Amino acid sequence: MRLFFALWPDDAVRARLAHWSRELHAVCGGRPTLAENLHVTLAFLGSVDDQHVAEIERAANEVAPSVVSLVLDRPGYWKHNRIAWAGTSIVPPGLEALVSGLRGALEKSQIRFDAKSFVSHVTLLRDAREPRAMPALEPIEWRLDGFALVQSVTSPRGGRYEIRKSWTGRA
Ligand code: 2AM
Repeated sequence: MRLFFALWPDDAVRARLAHWSRELHAVCGGRPTLAENLHVTLAFLGSVDDQHVAEIERAANEVAPSVVSLVLDRPGYWKHNRIAWAGTSIVPPGLEALVSGLRGALEKSQIRFDAKSFVSHVTLLRDAREPRAMPALEPIEWRLDGFALVQSVTSPRGGRYEIRKSWTGRA
């Protein structure tokens, strides 16, 4: 199965991200991420054998997420992969700490993951055109209170993500 750790938005944040996606789609075109799939990847594990899932969950149990406030205030576009995204001009220290705590716990348990450094973003559109100018968008405040282990499932409608387990933090 294909697994990754992610920040999973609540319905209100998801609806606002879907609004950003529609506004960006008007200037970039491309294939929108289904609203129910919108997320921020913290660590991408890729293909994992069933027998290793318990170990992965144990590693994540060692991470103590705290409640962090994240502001998505930056629509962006990457030419190299034609992705339009929602990002943050400031990555709060609590989120940096969560990512390094999680990745450190995975390393300690010798669980492999994509080592590319963390870039805080939500992929909104794939195969998008470079926009001449980004639309002005209302910042989205997102209160992070944990993270999730997500499984990528292939269905006739395309890729779908299912939360296998989530970990909640303290205020
Ligand atoms: P992306 O949306 O920026 O492409 C599930 O595939 C999630 O894991 C996506 O959010 C994807 O990020 C992310 N991801 C990170 N590294 C990946 C990799 N090497 N292969 C596929 N997806 C990856």
